[in-house]
Amino acid sequence: MSLRFAAPAGITVRLGPDDLVDGLRAAVVAGLSSTPKTLPAVYLYDARGSELFDQITRVAEYYPTRAERQILGTYSADIAAASQAEVLAELGSGTCEKSRILIRALIDEASLTTYVPFDVSEGTLRDAAGAIVEEFPDLAVHGIVGDFRVDLDAIPAGRRRMIAFLGCTIGNCTPGERADFLAGVVDVMNPGDSLLLGVDLVKDPDRLVAAYDDASGVTAEFNKNVLVMLNRELGADFAIDRFDHVAHWDPVNEWIEMRLKSRGAQTVRVTALGLSVEFADGEELRTEISAKFRVERVRDELVDAGLEMVGWWTDAAGDCALSLGMRR
Ligand SMILES: C[S@@+](CC[C@H](N)C(=O)[O-])C[C@H]1O[C@@H](n2cnc3c(N)ncnc32)[C@H](O)[C@@H]1O
Repeated sequence: MSLRFAAPAGITVRLGPDDLVDGLRAAVVAGLSSTPKTLPAVYLYDARGSELFDQITRVAEYYPTRAERQILGTYSADIAAASQAEVLAELGSGTCEKSRILIRALIDEASLTTYVPFDVSEGTLRDAAGAIVEEFPDLAVHGIVGDFRVDLDAIPAGRRRMIAFLGCTIGNCTPGERADFLAGVVDVMNPGDSLLLGVDLVKDPDRLVAAYDDASGVTAEFNKNVLVMLNRELGADFAIDRFDHVAHWDPVNEWIEMRLKSRGAQTVRVTALGLSVEFADGEELRTEISAKFRVERVRDELVDAGLEMVGWWTDAAGDCALSLGMRR
């Protein structure tokens, strides 16, 4: 794995393009030969996927971004007072759109000195970090291009660090993956550090499905873009228009699954891997899960990881929540 520093942007690259493709090769071999076929959600976020996600945050049906922005707008001073964080490390920071609200409150309430955006998508991270530097010239900004499943040790040391994980991204993990992820986070935390975790709450399945299958088709394009990426990076020959976007609510696991459903039986070749993959008519490839939460589950999972839940804030409609877990 490569490690290099680039001035003047203050960016640490833990995950370069070659590392990404190596991980992708292993994930495709494992995921396309399993039943059902799956791919990890991280591969939705190439440069185009990140742009499309940014568009998703503005479609009418996708309420989580608006809900989280409302929570931050209403309670960020309380969150800042409870955490007293001097360093804010944000995992899966994307465009850092909502982060500004939190940064401002932490500067006002807790003397924030350092912001550490952390994302797998290098171009998005560099642009976002640059914009934050311009907006907050007194703040030290150190971006990390990395995978939050393995690179958490890249987060710099500091007093009273807050690790923020917004955008309901934790929902992309299965319960087992969440336990591993939270254990990894707690492992790099010191007493007095906190975890600000954004979750989407269980609600009417029709609203949930609509949020992942908007009428304008942006989420469908975001989902299918993973096939475009496989064609580009691994020389695959997916016929994009022979797969349909599906958003499915699983009431047992209480999660949404994004899937790509094969129109007719077809064989897809992945040249770089010497792989031929058979899809039966109607067979689905799962590209993302998005788990929905209840307060009890969040509290239990934080406690199991070794954190005390000291805060829980929701938007007025009760659609999404932010929890604050402290390491004692
Ligand atoms: C659902 S979006 C949320 C973006 C932003 N935090 C928000 O609230 O709008 C998930 C973000 O996590 C990033 N991401 C996904 N998997 C990742 C991984 N394994 N390591 C680092 N970043 C990841 C994506 O590139 C994307 O920016």
